[in-house]
Amino acid sequence: MVKKICCIGAGYVGGPTMAVMALKCPEIEVSVVDISEPRINAWNSDKLPIYEPGLDDVVKQCRGKNLFFSTDVEKHVFESDIVFVSVNTPTKTQGLGAGKAADLTYWESAARMIADVSKSSKIVVEKSTVPVRTAEAIEKILTHNSKGIEFQILSNPEFLAEGTAVKDLYNPDRVLIGGRENAAGEKAVQALRDVYAHWVPVERIICTNLWSAELSKLAANAFLAQRISSVNAMSALCEATGADITQVAHAVGTDTRIGPKFLNASVGFGGSCFQKDILNLIYICECNGLPEAANYWKQVIKVNDYQKTRFANRVVSSMFNTVSGKKVAILGFAFKKDTGDTRETPAIDVCNRLVADKAKLSIYDPQVLEEQIRKDLSMARFDWDHPVSLQQIKAEGMLEQVSVVSDAYEATKDAHGICVLTEWDEFKSLDFKRIFESMRKPAFVFDGRNVVDAVKLREIGFIVYSIGKPLDSWLKNMPSVA
Ligand code: NAI
Repeated sequence: MVKKICCIGAGYVGGPTMAVMALKCPEIEVSVVDISEPRINAWNSDKLPIYEPGLDDVVKQCRGKNLFFSTDVEKHVFESDIVFVSVNTPTKTQGLGAGKAADLTYWESAARMIADVSKSSKIVVEKSTVPVRTAEAIEKILTHNSKGIEFQILSNPEFLAEGTAVKDLYNPDRVLIGGRENAAGEKAVQALRDVYAHWVPVERIICTNLWSAELSKLAANAFLAQRISSVNAMSALCEATGADITQVAHAVGTDTRIGPKFLNASVGFGGSCFQKDILNLIYICECNGLPEAANYWKQVIKVNDYQKTRFANRVVSSMFNTVSGKKVAILGFAFKKDTGDTRETPAIDVCNRLVADKAKLSIYDPQVLEEQIRKDLSMARFDWDHPVSLQQIKAEGMLEQVSVVSDAYEATKDAHGICVLTEWDEFKSLDFKRIFESMRKPAFVFDGRNVVDAVKLREIGFIVYSIGKPLDSWLKNMPSVA
């Protein structure tokens, strides 16, 4: 019988996953531990460290009853029957595989600590997204340091999407559990299965071998990102031909073999996982002597980069090929709506590109703090997922061109153009008449998420660019943008 569960890593995955597990399994004590004191303090306060619809309510119901947040990592690992590991697995920035391979430093140190402090048998669960066969390495670390204690490793990758994490955790499409195909492995899989069976229908709990579970997570993210890059590549062709990407996506998505989801054209995908996991997949393909497979997946990232560059170039070329000294409002900085997460958000690339062209940016996002935006715009590639002490921050000078404000009307006042970079619902209902009146003319809107009503905005007087939609005559006459 599982009495106590602990999760190492109180991040976007560890926090919500364990909160829902605690709510659904009231007889199990669940502790979420982290080396970051500010993060744990925030989990214990009224202002949780991450914004997720519905999460406050779940945490309030269980915290202090059977859900605890603590920095006493060793104590909780020692006491637990099941230890989830949900630490960050960034892209390596240096050495072998830099820019592609997953950096397992944090994972390995967690595994060594588990081996050090354990005095009883434990099930160790990979919750983080890891390269295929990581479990084998972890198993070796644990067994070589185990002092005779038995560890079973399971892979239980998390499929939640930020912004809908609580909903996804309550009602997952599937729960995937990979384990060793022997009696001890099957017993461990059964124990974890019983935990999830408190609220997930058993037919949705898929059990596989370890390697299939590890690879399925990378594969799922690669397939999802590939759909976005496919529709985005199509959006460029729509703009060139007069087709409308929304109509094309609808026509394509009604084919039941394809399906309607994840077919929205946009300024590009972001988030902590897609790029990192595909780079990781590419590296694994290369290491296994499969360059054609690696190149196939590389293209998904290249199209995403192309889409961000194409968008920023469109902004500059439309505004007479110069944004130097012009105020440009940025509406939305998070990588998607309903999250404050900015990791790998396309807004970083678009803003950096406009700053390099000497634009003055006025940024507004309903959930992202100024400090975070400034940090994101100053950080070297891939550094965001490493500890603060290892992050390289660019010179402050660049950021003088950037201001962060607290509402959309302030951001757009006296601006020459507006870039909508996150699909926050509130941007749909802005008073665009008022905004138009306060802007310099001609007033441009570049909608990177296809959220504004372009017809209405054109009636008001805006020149509107919507991704993948037939172009305004103004934009048609401007130079090519690739
Ligand atoms: P995160 O960066 O928000 O959280 C990771 C936490 O682990 C940090 O708070 C860090 O302080 C802590 N940590 C690192 N080393 C530690 C150690 N040795 N002991 C104790 N705590 C330690 O990361 P996030 O987003 O929760 O992701 C975690 C993993 O889950 C990653 O592998 C990610 O790829 C994967 N994942 C993320 C999803 C997402 O939507 N964010 C979805 C599915 C999987």
